[in-house]
Amino acid sequence: MEIRRIGVMTGGGDCPGLNAVIRAVVIAARARGWEVLGIEDATSGLVDLDYRSPHGNRWLTVDDVERTLARGGTILGTSNRSDPFKFVVERDGRKVEADVSDRVVENFRKLGLDALVSIGGDGSMRIAQRLIAKGIPIVGVPKTIDQDLAATDYTFGHQTAVQTATDAIDRLQDTAESHDRVMLVEVMGRDAGWIALHAAIAGGAHACLIPEIPYRIAPIVDKVRARRAAGHPYSIIVVSEGAHPAGGAQSHEGPRELGAMIRLGGIADRVRRELEPLLELEVRATVLGHLQRGGSPVQFDRILGTRFGVRAVELLAEGKVGHMVALRTPEIVAVPIAEAVARPNLVDPNGQLVAAARAVGICFGD
Ligand code: F6P
Repeated sequence: MEIRRIGVMTGGGDCPGLNAVIRAVVIAARARGWEVLGIEDATSGLVDLDYRSPHGNRWLTVDDVERTLARGGTILGTSNRSDPFKFVVERDGRKVEADVSDRVVENFRKLGLDALVSIGGDGSMRIAQRLIAKGIPIVGVPKTIDQDLAATDYTFGHQTAVQTATDAIDRLQDTAESHDRVMLVEVMGRDAGWIALHAAIAGGAHACLIPEIPYRIAPIVDKVRARRAAGHPYSIIVVSEGAHPAGGAQSHEGPRELGAMIRLGGIADRVRRELEPLLELEVRATVLGHLQRGGSPVQFDRILGTRFGVRAVELLAEGKVGHMVALRTPEIVAVPIAEAVARPNLVDPNGQLVAAARAVGICFGD
């Protein structure tokens, strides 16, 4: 396959390090003489060529990516509601989900593109798989702060998010100790508790509730009481947004919106309401939310993003479409996208990391 023009797009929730990938793709592709179209807002810029957001489809030069390495977010814009197989369109005055993937293929051809680099999470990789089946050559680059893709040791963005959560826990430790309070901190992680677990260990939290280990209130009450009896009348509990009680469901806000995933939220407040009547201490909840998605990427995420971007261009040159770049320490390898989305990367409740956390006194509520 001869390549002259490629498109690059970012899909799903943003994460620190996306600009490092875009920068690397542009520099590496331009060095081969390829043209690079930055596609706006995930596939939205391919669904409708007249679609104009402030980002705008545009041909990218090396100058366009100058000094973007340290910037959070994505210079291309993104969306987690732009699945072309269930795109939100208006029909007879009503909003409905529709399959507009044929338009994506048509516009890909109109733009004279030879291939795409799709930077996204498991959702974007599934979309990529289906577009490949419709004839668009795609190479995938995994991104997610949640770290829930099993094919790669790490995704960029995760470490920056964990650093943000750890900094928040450090601050909450100060005020919790001053006021003898129990502080809950809700972090992101839909089905995978990596952010919560890593931040709980790094921040010296006393309990950690994750989706992989359904919790009960009684062990948490015991933990807080034991700390109080030992002369520490304050505790920090990290709660993953996807955590849920044993036999109970995840907490979410309202019904699923068209074209979107269900919005999780409210679990820290739920635990607060359950805990407070059982304790002699005040219990407060803080939701970190999108703070974890923004900010300048830490060096690990910049380096990994750069390596992924460079390797993605190499894969296209080698004709390895249908593959996703992945870190298998210390190498960046190519894995078939189908394999990459086959199973999620979840915390092993019986693994070494959870065992280490338990060994330093972290209670999982089980
Ligand atoms: O997948 C990454 C993630 O950060 C999840 O942890 C979270 O549930 C979701 O994105 C939130 O996305 P939104 O931007 O739609 O609130």
